[in-house]
Amino acid sequence: MTGAADALIRVESVSVAYPVPGGKVQALTDVSLEVRRGEWLTIIGHNGSGKSTLAKLFNGLIIPGRGSVTVDGLSTADDEQRKRIRQIVGMVFQDPDNQIVATIVEEDVAFGPENLGLPRAEIIERVADAMRRLEIEDLRQRAPHQLSGGQKQRVAIAGVLAMRPAVLVLDESTAMLDPSGRTEVLQAAQALHRDGVTIVAITHFMGEVVLADRVVVLAEGRVALEAQPRDLFAQPERLRELELDVPQVTEIAARLRARGVDVGLVPLTVAELADAYVRLPRAAA
Ligand SMILES: Nc1ncnc2c1ncn2[C@@H]1O[C@H](COP(=O)(O)OP(=O)(O)OP(=O)(O)O)[C@@H](O)[C@H]1O
Ligand SMILES: [Mg+2]
Repeated sequence: MTGAADALIRVESVSVAYPVPGGKVQALTDVSLEVRRGEWLTIIGHNGSGKSTLAKLFNGLIIPGRGSVTVDGLSTADDEQRKRIRQIVGMVFQDPDNQIVATIVEEDVAFGPENLGLPRAEIIERVADAMRRLEIEDLRQRAPHQLSGGQKQRVAIAGVLAMRPAVLVLDESTAMLDPSGRTEVLQAAQALHRDGVTIVAITHFMGEVVLADRVVVLAEGRVALEAQPRDLFAQPERLRELELDVPQVTEIAARLRARGVDVGLVPLTVAELADAYVRLPRAAA
């Protein structure tokens, strides 16, 4: 899946600076990239590297000072298209509490489609579908503030999904969750991805990066690296230069190799490492 035809979001030569008292902060410099239809693109980079700024460019929350961003061919700089663009590109942020707008889960999920002015029957159908896909039907009548972080984030995702976006942008949406909450949200995102939703995931958890089809690394507002996860983790020195870790399982394989046991691949999962290890000739193991 490559080539211009598959680009759903296209960022071309974009620079963004924030005005601050006495000057400006350069957040992005000459960034070009595309989000391809149907892919899972993960964006990583150390603190302040420009990830959230990039995410906000995708749906026109920020308009680039230089360069252009188009979504399905529509320019985010075009005021007339912004409502349509926000429908195509759904955003979920870090803090679930900031994204809940209603006092009952079902009403929260309905908020987006109601704002689109859709017919009642259509809203009901979309809300039911979104709650089913996020597996929150049993929470329908609950008060969001009583839910766990993972449940709240799934409510937030359902609310976005009810707008029927083509792309779901998750900006560190698992960062405030406990491990089980993170697993819940990631499994939900994977299910949506299997159903054809394009995923853009911003994360600092290297263990989540393995879910991606493609990874973009930002450093100081520029694209420093673009690779598939396995190719990315095959460059641990480069990652360390960029102040990023490698997943634990990749690290274990690298340490085994340093001690003379080469498992023959860069494993992305515990299962891959275990399989490779048991296939080693006895002497090596
Ligand atoms: N509203 C703002 N006003 C001024 N500077 C800002 C603003 N938002 C972001 N910045 C600066 O722009 C740069 C990029 O910030 P951004 O939030 O995009 O990075 P990030 O990679 O998402 O960081 P984090 O990992 O902390 O979420 C940083 O230097 C940040 O301090
Ligand atoms: Mg951020």
